[in-house]
Amino acid sequence: MITELFTPYQIGKCTIPNRLVVPAMVMNLCTEDGRITERYIRYMEEKAKGGWGLLITEDYGVNEHAKGYRCIPGLYNDEQIPGNIELTSTIHQYDSKIFAQIYHAGRQSRHLVNGNVQPVAPSAIKDTFCLDLPKELTVDEIHQIVKDFGSTARRVKESGFDGLEIHAAHGYLICEFLSPFTNKRVDEYGGCFENRVRFLDEIYAEIRKNVGPDFPVQVRISANEYLLGGRTEADAYELVRHLDEIGVDCIHVSNGMYASPIDKQIIAPMYTKHAINMDVAEQIKKLVSCPVIVTNRINNPNMADTLLKMGKADFIGMGRGSLADPYLPKKAKEGRFENIRYCIGCLQGCEAGLLNDDCATCLVNPRVGREYEKAIEKTDSPKKDMVIGGGPAGLMAAETAALRGHNVTVYEAQESLGGAFRSAAYPLGKGELSTFVSSLRRSLIDLNVPVKLNTEVTEEMIRDEKPDTVIVATGSRPLRLNIEGIDGANVITAEEALLGKKDIGFGPIVVCGGGEVGAETAHYLTQTNQDITVVEMRDDILNDMMPLSRQCLLGYMKETGVKVITNAKVSRITETSVEYSDKEGNTVSLPAETVISAFGYKAYNPLEEAAKKYCSDVRTVGSAVKAGNALTAVREAYDAAMSI
Ligand SMILES: Cc1cc2nc3c(=O)[nH]c(=O)nc-3n(C[C@H](O)[C@H](O)[C@H](O)COP(=O)(O)O)c2cc1C
Ligand code: SF4
Repeated sequence: MITELFTPYQIGKCTIPNRLVVPAMVMNLCTEDGRITERYIRYMEEKAKGGWGLLITEDYGVNEHAKGYRCIPGLYNDEQIPGNIELTSTIHQYDSKIFAQIYHAGRQSRHLVNGNVQPVAPSAIKDTFCLDLPKELTVDEIHQIVKDFGSTARRVKESGFDGLEIHAAHGYLICEFLSPFTNKRVDEYGGCFENRVRFLDEIYAEIRKNVGPDFPVQVRISANEYLLGGRTEADAYELVRHLDEIGVDCIHVSNGMYASPIDKQIIAPMYTKHAINMDVAEQIKKLVSCPVIVTNRINNPNMADTLLKMGKADFIGMGRGSLADPYLPKKAKEGRFENIRYCIGCLQGCEAGLLNDDCATCLVNPRVGREYEKAIEKTDSPKKDMVIGGGPAGLMAAETAALRGHNVTVYEAQESLGGAFRSAAYPLGKGELSTFVSSLRRSLIDLNVPVKLNTEVTEEMIRDEKPDTVIVATGSRPLRLNIEGIDGANVITAEEALLGKKDIGFGPIVVCGGGEVGAETAHYLTQTNQDITVVEMRDDILNDMMPLSRQCLLGYMKETGVKVITNAKVSRITETSVEYSDKEGNTVSLPAETVISAFGYKAYNPLEEAAKKYCSDVRTVGSAVKAGNALTAVREAYDAAMSI
């Protein structure tokens, strides 16, 4: 039962209506010259409609070269104020409060996104990811940036925000000054704690001068950088005690910088434990008199409420949780937990979007960043819609079409829904993938959409049903290569292995194919078998995986002793072995009691042409067009259903 989440609480003089906070998230939806767009306003408005207590904007640059991403806003000139007034007045139509986060990206930027200017830092040390050698700031330049923070804060207040957050976390400029990992100065801004915190102190004082004593000003910190020589929890305790003494109104506890280890990242992947910062936040809460927000890998309201009950923090930040489902607070308040679309920690839409210098989006919510487009509203001309395939794409198409008032029926050949997402939830650390399918299933029940399981659609069925629209979402099938022995009794697909369709013994296992499915299956099987080899034709494995998740998985495979052989083309499978030819063309034989076929996938689309004979509006989506990418599949399905 939720008891704490929907109680109001103060940050300074501002009353936040509940404890759910959307932390700052760069979406890359604004203009290159730092102006707010209609698109960004509608994106934020959706969260206000969804009932979040406090929305924190993405990180606003304090000058035109302060930004780390191309299309983030700024408040470094007065022309940028009107757009922000529109933003705050839009949000204030609802109960939510809105704070602006302000920052300077420091060395975690690139000239490519930053007006072709060399990034700056306390010391000339390259970030491992951004790779532009930063220029060491002079004292005069430091003073100018302090002033920039102050004038930006003035504009924040003039724009109607309820407060502001100083971004002193995540390895950006203020954090760089705080950390001996990035600050090697020997002047008054480097060395001892008092010197490293001076930049932040001066910024805070300048901001206060500009906004007055009553305007809420909070500070976001990384409580642990998890780096050799970086700041640790003990440093964080020292810092927050100091911040409390100088009068900040709230501490927002996060962790990491870009260079931090992969499982301790700012945006933690699915392999990271939930609520990674809860214990340090609890200690901080004991030390300070102001409220504390805790964030990272908290993705469900009951967990959030429990953390509040335990006294871990006063507010819970849910960044990706709000991308996955902007209506999470409303649903939680109404007790509709099964309907929540939970963030699954995949990073495929949000972080991967930014890494590609694109907008952030979300795998489980294709509407993110597109709220300004056509609303999901009831149509005047409901159509009879057959959705063939009950994987994520089919279910998304069905949900969207049903929300728009169409008469939808879903047909699924298997005995359960989920398609490729069923087996994809089995690998270690990926259990949360099931929540996507289960929430779609719940939604279809609520929308009275009939779901016909164990139903292989035929041409005759389409003819008899006479649908107005057919959405073909039949997904993909495993590739069956023409290799001698591939039909042997000892050969099974990765899906069969994961879904427990066949028992696997203790003898050696060879997984043919080092893509994501092959590698994850190998890692999964290490729970019961210690002799597993992945054989890959290319010169590396996991080539198409999101880089951060890839590094995690590679580490786990190494830890659990999965052997990997690359440049190996499988040529023959026998009852006891797998043969492959190596780079030099030699045939090598590996002992194998069980062989897992994970050679890849091909689109499976047996019905499109047949459907076209009886229906003038046939749309094929997702892996039925091109195998592989769930993000694209779900988006295509949504688009198809929106255009019926
Ligand atoms: C797309 C994206 C952009 C982000 N941009 C910012 C940012 O501008 N400022 C910031 O302090 N944190 C940023 N973060 C980090 C989030 O605020 C949050 O700390 C992180 O996502 C972990 O919390 P979560 O598990 O609730 O998502 C970003 C996260 C994401 C996913
Ligand atoms: S893309 Fe994945 S990690 Fe990012 S918000 Fe959506 S579900 Fe969460």
